[in-house]
Amino acid sequence: MERIDLRSDTVTIPSKAMLEAMINAQVGDDVFGDDPTVIRLQKKVADKFGKEAGLFVPSGTMSNQIAIKTHTTPGQEVICDIGAHIYNFEGGGPSVLSGVQIRPVITKDGIMDPVSVEENLRFEGNVHHAPTALIEVENTHNRGGGTVIPIENIQDIRTIAEKYGIPMHLDGARIWNAHTATGIPLHEYASFFESVSVCFSKGLGAPVGSMLLGTEKFIEKAKRWRKVFGGGMRQSGYLAAAAEYAFENNIERLKEDHKRAAYFTRELNKIPGLSIPVPPVQTNIVMIDVEKIPAGELQHKLHEHGLDILAISSKRLRAVFHLHINDDMTEKAVKICSEVLS
Ligand SMILES: Cc1ncc(COP(=O)(O)O)c(C=O)c1O
Repeated sequence: MERIDLRSDTVTIPSKAMLEAMINAQVGDDVFGDDPTVIRLQKKVADKFGKEAGLFVPSGTMSNQIAIKTHTTPGQEVICDIGAHIYNFEGGGPSVLSGVQIRPVITKDGIMDPVSVEENLRFEGNVHHAPTALIEVENTHNRGGGTVIPIENIQDIRTIAEKYGIPMHLDGARIWNAHTATGIPLHEYASFFESVSVCFSKGLGAPVGSMLLGTEKFIEKAKRWRKVFGGGMRQSGYLAAAAEYAFENNIERLKEDHKRAAYFTRELNKIPGLSIPVPPVQTNIVMIDVEKIPAGELQHKLHEHGLDILAISSKRLRAVFHLHINDDMTEKAVKICSEVLS
């Protein structure tokens, strides 16, 4: 039975062409700074985002956590939305690694109200408070259901950040999807942020790899924290070659994932007992609310029929479309859901 795996866009395995690129990569020792493939990738991606420099790192988590460490000192605060990956899914990294606390802004879908951001700022001078050192935005928003954060919203938050001299960090693990959905250039998204983290291992299909982007000075500082966090890699050009292949070949095709996610949403909405809580689905992530049975039970039943979708709470499942999923598999996934719930 051919399995249909919609648990995440991280489940992809490298294509033959990507493996070829890896095998043929020229490598050096990146801790010494002389891996030519890593150097080329960092420059290429930084240029595309209009930033001075990039730092290739093993994961999106490390990239975000290095950014937080580089922007803050212990005893400060980071503002992000309540569903943010840095707050919920990075193991408490901000407190463990940077000694900072998170001040979450309540949102439904990851889009922070700029007024709430301003109300949540804390400043030096009040002994009771931990001053705000960083504002973080996640785009697209994972828990929000692949939501694209509107550029006007980012602009409004930026205006507040500038008013108070607070830097901004973008968790752009899936910024490729936002760019694909809106047509807004990557450098325009990046222009509102002092630092940007991007992942090659989500929708773009690389096995490993993320990048932190910023000024040369910021990246120089971040490089030290990458070493301290254990992310200094040696012949990482083999991985950078996969990331480079993903960056050059797999952005354009994300629109196919978005199309399939939209089709899946429309069809699932017709099945009694299922509903889509964050319409309209904008990118490759589909949240599915389940009424009749616990989401975990439905996950188990779907698994037995060859379909893997992740239960993310007792009432909600998440399906993510990616480059291993074609039209036939999408239709089959709908059919399995319909049969299991009938
Ligand atoms: C929005 C977002 N940021 C960061 C990460 C972390 O990436 P990684 O799994 O490479 O650590 C993820 C992972 O799915 C994510 O969805």
